[in-house]
Amino acid sequence: MNWILALLGGYALGSVPFGLILTRIAGAGDLRAIGSGNIGATNVLRTGRKGLAAATLLLDLLKGLAAVLIAARWLPGTEVVAAIAAFLGHCFPVWLRFRGGKGVATTAGICFGLAWPVGLVYAVTWLALLGVTRISSLAGMTAAIAAPIAAFSLGHRAAAGGLLVIALVVLFQHRANIARLRAGTEPRIGGGKS
Ligand code: G3P
Repeated sequence: MNWILALLGGYALGSVPFGLILTRIAGAGDLRAIGSGNIGATNVLRTGRKGLAAATLLLDLLKGLAAVLIAARWLPGTEVVAAIAAFLGHCFPVWLRFRGGKGVATTAGICFGLAWPVGLVYAVTWLALLGVTRISSLAGMTAAIAAPIAAFSLGHRAAAGGLLVIALVVLFQHRANIARLRAGTEPRIGGGKS
């Protein structure tokens, strides 16, 4: 029973499309018709609204963190189920006909919730790659791959399994970015191509 609650609650929380809501409220247009069409912070940044992008990043991260922490507090033993459900809610929200985001910020919150050292590895990998390459998708995908490796190395077996599933879906969600990276046309933050 607990895992069903974790599944439904996690999905509901993860499915809130903060980027879309914030840009709508701010009158910045429909995010799905801008840039990559993604509903994440990187694409919000392409509207030129840095504050909105930061808020989207924070809220998308917090919903992943909240899903895991709520499960840990009230539905112990279901943290990984809640984490995967929140992630899938973000990527495939029923409200947007299952066309959601790519899950990078939400996975950061999930990692911190499951085991903070894994969250630290994720954040450092993400920020380091972003700093060096200025390519958001490349940084996000690398962090997503680093997470299950870090969790496994640190002895968090269940979390590692969940994060491996998440990493595979992150790569799938970035298939258009991967094609652009291969073609050398993936945009860098602040201008230029990969
Ligand atoms: O977090 C999403 C990021 O990895 C890629 O976003 O808009 O460049 O496809 P975007």
